[in-house]
Amino acid sequence: MPNIAIFASGTGTNAGKIIDYFKENANIHVVLVVSNKATAPVLELADESGIEKMVISRQSFYETEGLLDALRDRGVGLIVLAGFLWLIPDYLVRAYDKRMVNIHPALLPKYGGKGMYGMNVHRAVKAAGETVSGITIHYVNERYDEGGVIFQATCPIAPDDEPEDIARKVQQLEHRHFAPVVEQLAQELEEG
Ligand code: GRF
Repeated sequence: MPNIAIFASGTGTNAGKIIDYFKENANIHVVLVVSNKATAPVLELADESGIEKMVISRQSFYETEGLLDALRDRGVGLIVLAGFLWLIPDYLVRAYDKRMVNIHPALLPKYGGKGMYGMNVHRAVKAAGETVSGITIHYVNERYDEGGVIFQATCPIAPDDEPEDIARKVQQLEHRHFAPVVEQLAQELEEG
């Protein structure tokens, strides 16, 4: 089974769910948490679970391929982006083609692209008067939020829902579905 690396820039509630989920799994291991922010709370989650963590700089990420060696050394076969905001450079996209996934807090192809993250997404969904939102789990390519869709789940939006309410509903979907979808992908990769 492929080892998993999680890339996250922020709080890491999704990363935490995934870490916990795979603690129960004898075959699939989260072996590394990568962050571009030394102060990101997600790194504390890694510590608490005894998972190796790595903080990367913009320069090392975009101008060297050192991270690739680190991933290969640890047998990483699947990369999970869980709130990682930097665009993924070509060398990493190529090396992990169909083996790198992201979760987006809306129903792509709507409400994606640069700047569409966090509450910006939910505010835009509300402003457009949508009656449904949801999550998209998709492969990662060299453009923000444009890789092939793997899985979507939806939630209704009530007329008086504020962006914060939409955020809460969407987060529930993320926490419910992300880890099982990653597990499914890992199994598919193993089966070739
Ligand atoms: C999630 O909403 C995810 O969809 C997006 O970034 C957010 C990460 O949240 N890509 P958290 O750090 O996992 O709480």
